[in-house]
Amino acid sequence: MSDTPQTPYQILGEEGIRTLASTFYEIMDTLPEASGLRAMHATNLSPMKAKLAEYLIGWMGGPPLYADKYGTVCMTTPHEPFHIGPEERDQWLLCMDKALVQTGASEQLVDMLKVPMFRIADAIRNKEGPSSATSNPNIIAAG
Ligand code: HEM
Repeated sequence: MSDTPQTPYQILGEEGIRTLASTFYEIMDTLPEASGLRAMHATNLSPMKAKLAEYLIGWMGGPPLYADKYGTVCMTTPHEPFHIGPEERDQWLLCMDKALVQTGASEQLVDMLKVPMFRIADAIRNKEGPSSATSNPNIIAAG
């Protein structure tokens, strides 16, 4: 029981998370549905692969590599210059979803990540939009 994996970091390991982050950007680079998201990023995605990996390693329960290097885990500020509405958020989540499938993530891991991944992506969203829960009049209990 004690050696049952408890965190995504324990399941994937550092190398697994680095592969996930690289795969995420490779998918973003080529997926037509993510072309808007791709256009927001610099031509060279290598620095982003490393940064996302460092961020996710800490976020998934491993050593806080991003926090140690950059002094924060706040993702609001670095995303402020970009227009991030529900469409951009969903493009990001689509790429992550496909990256998890492509890297062979187990159902257990996908289940574990689904809600927290949505929450962090939605927290980074800085614009309203038609598919945003907070602006959808049909979702009475939102918030
Ligand atoms: C919600 C949709 C999101 C959009 C549209 C988005 C877009 C971007 C863009 C355009 C950049 C700058 C890239 C560059 O400099 O070339 C960036 C940076 C970054 N993003 Fe996102 N992002 C999103 C969600 C996320 C999420 C959910 C995470 C983490 C789980 C994340 C982690 C990062 C990191 C670590 C950086 C680098 C920040 C730094 O400069 O240190 N992003 N993102």
